[in-house]
Amino acid sequence: MDAASSIRPALTPPVHIALIMDGNGRWAKRRGLPRFAGHQQGAESVRTVVRSCRELGIRFVTLYAFSSENWKRPASEVDDLMGLLRLYVRRERDELVREGVRVRFIGDRTRLAPDIQGLLDEAEQRTAGNSLLTVCIALNYGSRSEIVDAARRIARQVAAGLLAPDAVDEATFQEALDTRGIPDPDLVIRTSGEQRLSNFLLWQSAYAELIFTPTLWPDFSRADLEQAISEYHRRERRYGTTSG
Ligand code: IPE
Ligand code: IPE
Ligand code: MG
Repeated sequence: MDAASSIRPALTPPVHIALIMDGNGRWAKRRGLPRFAGHQQGAESVRTVVRSCRELGIRFVTLYAFSSENWKRPASEVDDLMGLLRLYVRRERDELVREGVRVRFIGDRTRLAPDIQGLLDEAEQRTAGNSLLTVCIALNYGSRSEIVDAARRIARQVAAGLLAPDAVDEATFQEALDTRGIPDPDLVIRTSGEQRLSNFLLWQSAYAELIFTPTLWPDFSRADLEQAISEYHRRERRYGTTSG
């Protein structure tokens, strides 16, 4: 048997795709436009990708929209991003409800403006009964602080005598993360050519296949998504076992 025929590709379609949406600024710069234009076009890509995931039968898609480190950007850019978030949620919510999409937000929302927190809560509540596709949006999200928060939550249970230290296992941890109830991503895609995770789903991506594409996020299309899924199918997922 030659090497190629011993490779066992990932035959089952990805259940959960996570996307690091990067390159909005560079997209705008190449066109001589302000960064805002890149973020605006990026929001259109979100629409396209959510629709494509629904049509392709993907069950979970997580989108990295704003990291806890993105507060370091100029206040005007942060304001622009928050403005686009308001616009996006207001514009899409009815359609998402109608199409059977469930929306969830991960990250620390307490630092977001009160009206945005209200919009997020409302979108989650209105779509809570849907299950066709879950769209999970990471906002003011950082994986390390999510893990620290989980540890704190578990420590409190232990301190209160509700949980024995030896009973803490991976499942306990999984349940204490923001992503509780969501399966681990099978595939993590990052656009714009950067090859790093930037504090995104570090625990959850332990065995995810990683795909880095040079396409800038505002240009990311259904064809790019399908190409990434094809690449995923060519990968061999081993989980520590031998090949073949
Ligand atoms: C991604 O695009 C959007 C966010 C991180 C909010 P960037 O704004 O990071 O675009 P580049 O990396 O500067 O091109
Ligand atoms: C990662 O992109 C965060 C999001 C896509 C929301 P960044 O552009 O902020 O990441 P770095 O700074 O290049 O690592
Ligand atoms: Mg970037």
